Amino acid sequence: MLFSKSLLCAVTALAASVSAQSSSSADSQIALAQLSLSAAKLIPNPIKQEYLSLEAALTETFKNGSVDQPGTTLSVGTTSTAPTLKLTIPDSAQSRFNSSTKYTVLTLDPGAPVEPVDKKVVRHFLVNDVPVGSDGTLDVSSGKNVAGWFATAPPLGSGTHRYATLIFRQPSDFNPPASLTTPDKNIVIDFSLSDYVEQAKPGPIVAATFFLQANDNEAKAGSSKSVSAVPTTSVAAASVSQAASSVSASIQNLAGSATATSKSSSGSGSNSASRPLSTHVLAVVLSVAAIAVGAALV
Ligand SMILES: *[C@@H]1O[C@H](CO)[C@@H](O)[C@H](O)[C@H]1NC(C)=O
Ligand SMILES: *[C@@H]1O[C@H](CO)[C@@H](O)[C@H](O)[C@H]1NC(C)=O
Repeated sequence: MLFSKSLLCAVTALAASVSAQSSSSADSQIALAQLSLSAAKLIPNPIKQEYLSLEAALTETFKNGSVDQPGTTLSVGTTSTAPTLKLTIPDSAQSRFNSSTKYTVLTLDPGAPVEPVDKKVVRHFLVNDVPVGSDGTLDVSSGKNVAGWFATAPPLGSGTHRYATLIFRQPSDFNPPASLTTPDKNIVIDFSLSDYVEQAKPGPIVAATFFLQANDNEAKAGSSKSVSAVPTTSVAAASVSQAASSVSASIQNLAGSATATSKSSSGSGSNSASRPLSTHVLAVVLSVAAIAVGAALV
């Protein structure tokens, strides 16, 4: 509980610094998502750094509660039915979210931030071939539903869970094995994101967010503890603004390299289109995320 409250403070401080910035809010929100995923220890397990190539911010809206910022806490019961999903896309990336690209939506619960996990992830949602509208709305109902939304219900004593929703941009030749696309009503509790990425090849993660949720009784038990102030605001504001301008530069780089000859990058790997952004941004993001995580753990 202590960890999650501190984390919440850190993320809230980051969020406050983002909303204080009037310009390039999409870039700031993307930077915040990268920092928050690190601060919540969702990176490197189950989400490996190289899967991420964030180009848009994601808002997840449930019937009674929404995830406007990564790390929002939602009470049990507000997340019993599937959310609507909307992207906030920077102007420079708009043309890359066109009608010829489809997306895979995946929601995972790696549990509380204790040990790094990979193969012990609970799969709550998996939809392939989701189109994105011109306003950034992901039309999940037009996609191929592999696993419908499985209502979240953290068991008592299991801590504060992190429910992450990931949006993958599918390659044009996306063709996962039948075993990974057969509709399956059962919850999968030993899902491995790395196996899925290896076998289905869903493309880079271009948007992501997560919410926090604990068993109601656990949340009540913890709510009497006072939340110690985490002095991250000034560090966070600088970090987010630095990371945001780096995101902005990288997306423009991506947009530019779509017409020019692809800039060669030093890394290996198959998602060449995602390389410029990830390699460029990550050095900055990793260093500032380290500060954020350090602050969150105080
Ligand atoms: C919505 O959520 C809030 C806060 O969790 C709760 O107080 C309220 O009763 C909920 N409303 C409905 C209609 O479920
Ligand atoms: C559509 O977006 C994809 C990336 O999502 C990009 O590779 C492609 O060039 C875009 N097409 C147009 C016509 O802009």
